[in-house]
Amino acid sequence: MKKLAVIAGFVVLLILAVPLSNFFIGSPVGTALTVRGPADPLFAKVAAVLEVKCLNCHSGETRLPLYASLPVVGGLIKADIEKGRRALDMMKALLPADGGPVSEVVLARLEQTAFKDNMPPGRYLALHWDGGMDDDDRARILDWVRDVRIRFYAPAGLPDAVRAQVIQPLPEPARLDARKVSLGKRLFHDTRLSRDDTLSCASCHALNKGGTDQSRFSTGIDGQIGGINAPTVYNAVFHVRQFWDGRAADLAEQAGGPVNNPIEMGSDWPQVVGKLKQDVSLEHEFESIYGQGVGAANIADAIAVFEKSLVTPDSPFDRFLKGDEGALDDEQKQGYLLFLEHDCATCHVGKAMGGQSFELMGRKADYFKDRGNPTEADQGLFNFTKKPDDMHRFKVPSLRNIALTFPYLHDGTATDLTQVVGIMSKYQVRPELSKQEIRLVVRFLESLTGEYQGKPLK
Ligand code: HEC
Ligand code: HEC
Ligand code: HEC
Repeated sequence: MKKLAVIAGFVVLLILAVPLSNFFIGSPVGTALTVRGPADPLFAKVAAVLEVKCLNCHSGETRLPLYASLPVVGGLIKADIEKGRRALDMMKALLPADGGPVSEVVLARLEQTAFKDNMPPGRYLALHWDGGMDDDDRARILDWVRDVRIRFYAPAGLPDAVRAQVIQPLPEPARLDARKVSLGKRLFHDTRLSRDDTLSCASCHALNKGGTDQSRFSTGIDGQIGGINAPTVYNAVFHVRQFWDGRAADLAEQAGGPVNNPIEMGSDWPQVVGKLKQDVSLEHEFESIYGQGVGAANIADAIAVFEKSLVTPDSPFDRFLKGDEGALDDEQKQGYLLFLEHDCATCHVGKAMGGQSFELMGRKADYFKDRGNPTEADQGLFNFTKKPDDMHRFKVPSLRNIALTFPYLHDGTATDLTQVVGIMSKYQVRPELSKQEIRLVVRFLESLTGEYQGKPLK
């Protein structure tokens, strides 16, 4: 009996030894996060929490605990560390290389983690009793997230409580040079930008079809069919880069893409400039606006300025965000809550509800295997960067005016909102949504149709 008690006591001691030892091993304190981080008192408080409780799994600065050398537990922990670093490298995410503010996507994810209190993973907490976030840690993260949003991202002229939200109302378009807008609008509808004068930008981005062609794939010159769905031009100004794979840095650079694409407009700048220069009144207009005649850079600039005017504020959802409770019905409000709870806004973030990051299509299950028939377009960001990590990553599409921009996804396979929300539920989030929940989210998405120049899009 006594022997048994001794053995039992010994076993208990052994079990306790692992978590207790973690009190003494310590975490990567004094990392670049606190040393090099911005001189922002709110960030300093957050960095202090992350350094002690999170960096072990979310950076390359891991200090492996003693038990990492044990066979089974060690393997599990190492897998968590590797998975955590891949999901979010906090060093890179919180100290952006360009010195700019932390991205809205990272802010949304940290906020969601603080709301849900789901980090670190349970398995780790079993061995690190002091590893969890307490109320104070969570409050520090939430305060900082809201502060960064208000300072760097949210539209001006709204109460801070509205500006601090993960999704903010679309603002009115910026003040733009009216002459450039008007010139750009005409060029956007000018078929001389295509080799055989049959197609304009508007052929594939019709302003009365939600800024798209509402087709699975677009038809270019000579009836050639493309291999990727045309996204909308409305609100594209808010995207960090242009195209599904981000190969154009901004709208002006993007405009050269279709002109030079053999299966879209099939032309090139010298040809287009040559044609437009013959138009004497147009040549004069360019001279008076740009101080020089028609040229590739001017054409691209005018089109880009026009596209900056393609902003669609005042959807029912925007009015709701600004405080008009009656702008959404009860089902739509429930749909919005589900949208937030199910992490949709950790990718479809900010005023455009997307366009801020390149995310894996098929985070929770293999979308491409299930769909079959792989294409080059499926490779997404990889086509541009050639980095293996970027395979199947796509720019997260904006969800503004989503009811009008069917069919959906880069491959245009989802024909209606119910289908595409079902796909997002299955491949991007956990837990999956029920049929009823999908219906409510779809009702919510229908409230995202805004107004262009004071008239609702149709
Ligand atoms: C034991 C390792 C570990 C620790 C410690 C840990 N995490 Fe994680 N974290 C993970 C793993 C693994 C994932 C990926 C979960 C998944 O994909 O299901 C993750 C995911 C996340 C994500 C989501 C990233 C995304 O792409 O959606 C956030 C945000 C996050 N962690 C924040 C934190 C914070 C804040 C802390 C500290 C309080 C923390 N983590 C501590 C392992 C860890
Ligand atoms: C033949 C159809 C077609 C024509 C003509 C066309 N586009 Fe596109 N557009 C597309 C397709 C398809 C894509 C997506 C291509 C990709 O991402 O690889 C796209 C992408 C874009 C994007 C990026 C949006 C985003 O969310 O990334 C913008 C902006 C755009 N086009 C503007 C224009 C402009 C300006 C013109 C005229 C100079 C034009 N397009 C002409 C089919 C067309
Ligand atoms: C991990 C990031 C991520 C999460 C989480 C996510 N999405 Fe997406 N969403 C994407 C990406 C990436 C695409 C484009 C994928 C493609 O075209 O292959 C997309 C596409 C969509 C589209 C189609 C847009 C279009 O113009 O084609 C809708 C609608 C959508 N998501 C809704 C949702 C909803 C609702 C949720 C929550 C249940 C959600 N998403 C969660 C990344 C995400």
